[in-house]
Amino acid sequence: MTPIPYIDIMLGQLEAAPPPPDGLHVHYGYWDTPPAGPVAEVYTAQCFMVERMLTELRVESGHQVLDVGCGVGGTLQALGNRVEGIRLTGLNYDTRQLDAARRVVRVHAHNSLSWVVADACAIPDSLGSFDRILALESPEHFASRLAFLKGAAKVLAPDGLLALSDIVSMSGLLELGRDPSEAKRLRAIIEAGCGPWPELWQAPDYQELGKQAGLEMVAWEDATVATMPSYPFFIEHARVDQLHALADALQLLESWSQARLVRYEIMSFRRKQPT
Ligand SMILES: C[S@@+](CC[C@H](N)C(=O)[O-])C[C@H]1O[C@@H](n2cnc3c(N)ncnc32)[C@H](O)[C@@H]1O
Repeated sequence: MTPIPYIDIMLGQLEAAPPPPDGLHVHYGYWDTPPAGPVAEVYTAQCFMVERMLTELRVESGHQVLDVGCGVGGTLQALGNRVEGIRLTGLNYDTRQLDAARRVVRVHAHNSLSWVVADACAIPDSLGSFDRILALESPEHFASRLAFLKGAAKVLAPDGLLALSDIVSMSGLLELGRDPSEAKRLRAIIEAGCGPWPELWQAPDYQELGKQAGLEMVAWEDATVATMPSYPFFIEHARVDQLHALADALQLLESWSQARLVRYEIMSFRRKQPT
């Protein structure tokens, strides 16, 4: 497993203090309206992104919920403190994040919470089936989005829902990657700061990938503009903390987002209905 460099920052934060009641999040957030003042409101935007994803998922009492690439458990903490009578499972390939989550995440007493070490592209069948599956800003790191969707479809209940957000490369970006040495240089910048990005030089068509996995897309949003105000905040903090590789990677992703070479997508799927 190749570690994601900025995860160390989150782990350090959790060593120093417990997470806020709505969880500690490792994503860009969603800016419903552009920031009015200092971009330090990023935590509010992160909580709004969680709301956005949970609105997509429509979790109800009695549901079994799986969060794939669950970070340090922030989304499950937020969810587990507002809906009762649910079984929550966080899946990650990084045991350090799961250990931190196990230590700090607390949810409503009528909910159960478990943490599973596994790769998102090989979700164990032994976990049983889930009514709701979530992957918030993690698929860009997976070795294969299709393998993840196929595995998720296998453990998704017949009337279940899968919601995900992902940073996807657009065809314009692939032009930049045509030159092998440039492709190598750009990948090195992204991965030094943001961790593995295996399908950087592919432009995924999620509708088509979903079909191949036996899933039907039910909602899709281009959320690029809603996520972009976070870049300056994260870049500035990374520079102050001397995390130059992270700052460089984020700066590149910001410029690609501005140029529409990458897109932040939010979507949901259900199992393909028999015709
Ligand atoms: C950007 S963070 C998002 C974390 C979390 N979803 C959140 O919103 O706070 C990406 C997460 O995906 C996890 N991840 C990346 N690749 C993975 C894989 N192949 N299998 C399982 N988890 C993975 C990372 O360890 C990290 O926790």
